[in-house]
Amino acid sequence: MEHEFSALFKKNKIWAKRMVEQDPDFFNRLKHQQKPQFLWIGCSDSRVPSDQITGTDPGEMFVHRNIANMVHHSDINILSVLQYSIEVLKVRHIIVCGHYSCGGVKASLEVIDHGLIDNWIRPIKQIYEDHADDFEGLSEAETVDKLCEWNVREQVVNIGRSTSVQKAWREGQQLAVHGVIYSIGDGKLIDLECSISDPGQISDIYRIR
Ligand code: CO
Repeated sequence: MEHEFSALFKKNKIWAKRMVEQDPDFFNRLKHQQKPQFLWIGCSDSRVPSDQITGTDPGEMFVHRNIANMVHHSDINILSVLQYSIEVLKVRHIIVCGHYSCGGVKASLEVIDHGLIDNWIRPIKQIYEDHADDFEGLSEAETVDKLCEWNVREQVVNIGRSTSVQKAWREGQQLAVHGVIYSIGDGKLIDLECSISDPGQISDIYRIR
């Protein structure tokens, strides 16, 4: 067990050395500031590492991950991430990234007791109900994958409805929200083409004037 943990430090040394070899000023530059253009909201799943699958370096992406890439308007964690990244870092793109075969989405389709987490993924059941027609005739695995896509689209809208995004748009800040999905089976990232960048794309009731 100790070996598994200590191995991380060995790998870290090798990585840090390699980065300096490639770019001697790399860490020095990062020490003074971060200016990421992107906020990534993804699933905690260990197979979906935001930087590796997008080829981005440290400093390029602000990251928030939780089970099933959910956006709850009472979650102080994501609300703080949104406020800080929009108001202070002034990110230009917020990316909601789901992934196929998501365990959280799969669990939301089951009628068994998973404990506390059932509360976290509860809203996905509503998304399933709202798009019931879309799942007709699909196998279990296809249903999960289709629901993973709908969940991303729904969370993109949730971001657009958030007070931080609404305020940014009110101030004329350039900010787009995108929905993408990652395929664990082949490493491909797919644009779900549900981007929003204008308050007119969100129901008027969510507007902050
Ligand atoms: Co997942």
